[in-house]
Amino acid sequence: MITINEHYNKLQASYLFSNIAKRVTEYQKNNPEKEIIKMGIGDVTKPLPPACIKAFHRAVDEMAKESSFRGYGPEQGYEFLRKAISENDFQVRGAAIEADEIFVSDGAKCDTGNIQELFSTEIVVAIPDPVYPVYLDTNVMAGRTGNFQKGRYENIVYLNAVKENNFVPALPEQKVDLIYLCFPNNPTGSTISRDELKTWVEYARQNKALILFDAAYEAFINDAALPKSIYEIDGAQEVAIEFRSFSKKAGFTGTRCAYTVVPKACTAYDSSGQQQLLHNLWSRRHSTKFNGVSYPVQRAAEAIYSPEGQQQSADLITYYMTNAALIRSQITALGYECVGGDNSPYIWIDGHADSWKFFDLLLEKAGVVCTPGAGFGTCGEGYIRLSAFNSYENVSLAMQRIRQSLD
Ligand code: MLT
Repeated sequence: MITINEHYNKLQASYLFSNIAKRVTEYQKNNPEKEIIKMGIGDVTKPLPPACIKAFHRAVDEMAKESSFRGYGPEQGYEFLRKAISENDFQVRGAAIEADEIFVSDGAKCDTGNIQELFSTEIVVAIPDPVYPVYLDTNVMAGRTGNFQKGRYENIVYLNAVKENNFVPALPEQKVDLIYLCFPNNPTGSTISRDELKTWVEYARQNKALILFDAAYEAFINDAALPKSIYEIDGAQEVAIEFRSFSKKAGFTGTRCAYTVVPKACTAYDSSGQQQLLHNLWSRRHSTKFNGVSYPVQRAAEAIYSPEGQQQSADLITYYMTNAALIRSQITALGYECVGGDNSPYIWIDGHADSWKFFDLLLEKAGVVCTPGAGFGTCGEGYIRLSAFNSYENVSLAMQRIRQSLD
C-alpha cells in the first residue's frame, strides 16, 4: 500500500498566497465590473532592465548556433555570474565571499525551502512570527514540528516580532540549533542594525547554531548604516548561510534567478560531534536535484552588474520606493501606525482589527488586495501588509480608494 507523508496533513489547507489568489478570483467572478488593484503578493510590474533584455537576446541567439550552443551548464551556476556576484555583492562591501561559495538557483523561495534537508529532523528550529510561510511550512513537511494548536506548531521556537521590539525578535530564551532571519523583513519591512545582527552571530557561534539569513530585499536598503549581508559581521561565515534573489532587485519574478551563499567555513555537526562542511552537503544536494538555471537567464542576471544594469535596476528600486513612501504617508495621514516602506517594499499596517476582515473590507470597499497579517503568523493578527510593487498610478488610485473607504 502506498502511504503518504502524513506531516503534510498538519499544514494549513493551502499556501497563503494561493489562498488569497483564490479569494480574489472568486470575488472577481461575482463582481466582474469591479477593477481590482493588487498590492498583496510582492510581484513586480515593471519590465526587466534593458541591459538584461539585451543580454538575454544575445544569449538566445548564441543558443541558435551550433558553434555557441550550450547544453547542461554547471549545476552551481556559470563562473561569469558567480564571479560578478561575489565581487559586486560581497567583496566591495568587505565581505570575503568567493565565487565558488555562490550557488545560483531558480529562486530564494526554493532555496529557503530546500535548505532544511541538510539538517537532522531532531534539531530545534527557531522561526520568527510573523514570517514568510515557506520557512515554517517546509519544516512541517519534513516532520520537525508537532501539530498545529491555537495558531502555532508544536516543537517550533517562535521568535515574536512585535511593536515592542521594533519587529526585530529578541534572542531565544532556550537553546536552538537553526535560526531563520529575514532582513529587510518580509512581511513587516523592518530592518536589523549591525549591532543587533552581531548579537545573533554571537549567539550562533556560542551555541553551535546556524543562521539562515534571507536577504532577498537587501536592494531596498536606503540607510547606509544598515548591513546588507550577514557576512559584513565578523565570524558570520562560520555560522550563516545567506539567500539572495534577483526577483525584486531587477524584476526577475517571472524569469527566475537567485542565489545562495554557503561559505566554505560554514559547518554543522554529525551525530558524533564531528564538524561537517555545509558547502559540501549543499553542493551534493544541488548537483543531485538541480540542473542549473538556463544560460540566457544567467546572462540576463549577469547584466545587472554592468554599469547600465546597475543604474537601471537602481531606477526600478527608486520607482517602487516612491510608491512605498506614498503608501506610508497616506496610511499615516489616515491615523494608522505602520512600519516598513523606508528600507523595504512592504508596509506593515496596524489595522486594529481582525486582519482577514480588514482584507475583505479593503477588497470589497476599495477594490484593493492586501495580505492579511494573520497569514504570516499569530503576531500578524491585527495587521495587514501592503506591497509597493505596482505602477505609481495604481498605487495612487488605491490610496485614494482606501482613503475614501476608511475615512
Ligand atoms: C511575498 O509577497 O511575500 C513574496 O512575493 C513571496 C515570494 O517571494 O515568494
